[in-house]
Amino acid sequence: MLPFIIIITILLTAVGANGASLWVPTTPQSPRPYALKKGDGIKLAGGNTFPVTGNSSGNAFCILNTNAGSSGGAGVFPHVHKKTYENFYAVKGRVQLWGQNLDTYKANTSIQQTRILAQGDIGAIPFNTIHTFSLLEPDTQLTGVLVPGGFEEFFFHMEFSAPPNPGNGTTLPGSGGFNISELADWDVYPQLDFVPRRDVVNGKAGPGNWYDGQNDLPDDYSAPIWVAKNYGPKWLNSDGGRYQIVAPFSQGTVTISPSFSSGDVAPLVRSEVATAFMMEEGQLEVLVDGYEPVSLIDGDVVFVPANTSFSYVATAQFTKFMYVTGGGRGLDYELIKTGEPWNSAFYPQNEQFGMGHSRIMRI
Ligand SMILES: *[C@@H]1O[C@H](CO)[C@@H](O)[C@H](O)[C@H]1NC(C)=O
Ligand SMILES: *[C@@H]1O[C@H](CO)[C@@H](O)[C@H](O)[C@H]1NC(C)=O
Ligand SMILES: *[C@@H]1O[C@H](CO)[C@@H](O)[C@H](O)[C@H]1NC(C)=O
Ligand SMILES: *[C@@H]1O[C@H](CO)[C@@H](O)[C@H](O)[C@H]1NC(C)=O
Ligand SMILES: *[C@@H]1O[C@H](CO)[C@@H](O)[C@H](O)[C@H]1NC(C)=O
Repeated sequence: MLPFIIIITILLTAVGANGASLWVPTTPQSPRPYALKKGDGIKLAGGNTFPVTGNSSGNAFCILNTNAGSSGGAGVFPHVHKKTYENFYAVKGRVQLWGQNLDTYKANTSIQQTRILAQGDIGAIPFNTIHTFSLLEPDTQLTGVLVPGGFEEFFFHMEFSAPPNPGNGTTLPGSGGFNISELADWDVYPQLDFVPRRDVVNGKAGPGNWYDGQNDLPDDYSAPIWVAKNYGPKWLNSDGGRYQIVAPFSQGTVTISPSFSSGDVAPLVRSEVATAFMMEEGQLEVLVDGYEPVSLIDGDVVFVPANTSFSYVATAQFTKFMYVTGGGRGLDYELIKTGEPWNSAFYPQNEQFGMGHSRIMRI
């Protein structure tokens, strides 16, 4: 514990905290740095919690946690978004996701894909991609990341303005009584002739690898993107006297080691885009410029607006968090720039490795 206290003391000196608390009881309505305990945030019925919204992130992105049991069928009718990019991340349980590009579906020139996402697996649905999903286990958490933020207003509008509706000729089940043309106002375009395939073997159907090989990121984002946990590209960054394995994706994960020695100063990060972390394992101390440091454990969320300095230190081995950036030159871009391609889910156990790499110090 002592080395860590020293690090934090150095950080406090470096960043100049003024003692304001980062913890908030619920998602703020305007951008500011904040931290939320597991499960906290604005909530809707049906197990949806929004730890980050368009309002709280300056419209950078929305994070939507759905905690629910098995949905026993499609969670929602097949649909397309034209302006919203949507990532599906299984935090626990299993989620089946289907996807196919709308244009090639109509031209019959692509093959529908589906994957069963288990803990840590991700499916990304770019604009103009038909998708639907189903929760498969009694205790499932699906984390949706919607970019840009603002799409979530649809869910709030449904909950508070529209009557519950079982679906009929002009409205759809689960659409909260919206008729089909109104849905377009919310960037939702139903694709009711899309029939989800049911022929999954070993967690997948349709082209591409899953647990059976490397999951490469495509050059263009015109089709669903699938990355099974630890099967995607990774980089090892050893700046600042600790290891970080980055598995990137505009959203992705970082697996971080404690600092090698008490003299190591955690690099300051100051990103041009908003950044959020959601903890998965271990413990992370986060210090945001102007606030008291917070100690985060599983499920906790921290949000840092664009152009705000912060730093972080792991206090447990293989501490892991999911990150979301507002795209472009986010935290992952910076870690990859000074990192090296890496093939393993583990960082080196020999702390000498990587010593001598230059540190990042950005203000
Ligand atoms: C976002 O802020 C607007 C304007 O204050 C408000 O009407 C809306 O309900 C907020 N959305 C959420 C999801 O809190
Ligand atoms: C779509 O293409 C497949 C494979 O070429 C073919 O078997 C199928 O009949 C086509 N479907 C339609 C509706 O044209
Ligand atoms: C379908 O439901 C909507 C919303 O409750 C209602 O306005 C509409 O009349 C219904 N249409 C039919 C064909 O029953
Ligand atoms: C559906 O919503 C649109 C837009 O609000 C409205 O113009 C149209 O009359 C509605 N159609 C039905 C069948 O309710
Ligand atoms: C952050 O800073 C960059 C570079 O100064 C600027 O281009 C960008 O607009 C800023 N972003 C926000 C959200 O203020």
